[in-house]
Amino acid sequence: MALKHQKVALIGDGAVGSSYAFAMMQQGIAEEFVIIDIVKDRTEGDALDLEDAQVFTAPKNIYSGDYKDCKDADLVVITAGAPQKPGETRLDLVNKNVKILSSIVKPVVDSGFDGIFLVAANPVDVLTYATQKLSGFPKEKVVGSGTSLDTTRFQVAVGKKLGVNPADVHAYIMGEHGDSEFAAIDEAEVGSRPLLDVAKDAGVSKDDLLKLEQETRDKAYTIINKKGATFYGVATALMRISRAILRDENSVLPIGAPMNGEYGLNDIYIGSPAVVNASGVAKVLEVPLSADEAKKMAASAETLKETAKKGMD
Ligand code: 2OP
Repeated sequence: MALKHQKVALIGDGAVGSSYAFAMMQQGIAEEFVIIDIVKDRTEGDALDLEDAQVFTAPKNIYSGDYKDCKDADLVVITAGAPQKPGETRLDLVNKNVKILSSIVKPVVDSGFDGIFLVAANPVDVLTYATQKLSGFPKEKVVGSGTSLDTTRFQVAVGKKLGVNPADVHAYIMGEHGDSEFAAIDEAEVGSRPLLDVAKDAGVSKDDLLKLEQETRDKAYTIINKKGATFYGVATALMRISRAILRDENSVLPIGAPMNGEYGLNDIYIGSPAVVNASGVAKVLEVPLSADEAKKMAASAETLKETAKKGMD
């Protein structure tokens, strides 16, 4: 069977967008890649720069384009928006970035685009929700990067602490991609053993794990204070979600997913593991949270709902 030609449109060619384009180039995912941004010199320069990599990776038609180029894209990835400045929270960006998003989603939909939206601009859970509302797309066709990056941050921190490969730490960060997120520690595993047991054997207490959760929550601030922005981690997480969509993988990934009664939630996008394939969010895999963690999920959802109300009215 001939492989289907796949096309990705990236909207927003800043630090995150260009790093994502580079990650997609390295992995040889999608044959066609169009970069869209109001700063044309930047997209044209990036397309020229990135096309030089294809000799060592895989042939790709990479170019600077316009919203009309979204028409036949399989995936539109939105990274455009004001980034956090040192001291700002993601939620502080809501008014600015909902406004920017409104100017993006309409022309994308007007182009005739009928693929999957993947949203990464912050506050990502609210902007994913807004993308679905503005586009009128079915909820499963709009995916947020959610807590994908936070989850890797926690896996890395726990992996370092316990001396195991982070990929073998099966632990999710859930809730808002932001200050109200939490680690689902009670259900987490290393291999097939409970994380809490493996940690105990290594002399690591639940409090120690909660410290790692806090470090995870603060990691973006730490990076932003040092280098002004975060980009490689989020870009790679976006690449991973893109691959699951474009290759129809049915992979279980922590993403910003639309809730349909899971965790008692509706009418919201929030970080939870879900099955991701060519149709977008195929199924939310509800984690059987402990009572304490269920409260954290409810509180995080409340924060997001309030922010959405504030940002979208
Ligand atoms: C991050 O967590 C700032 O949301 C961005 O790296």
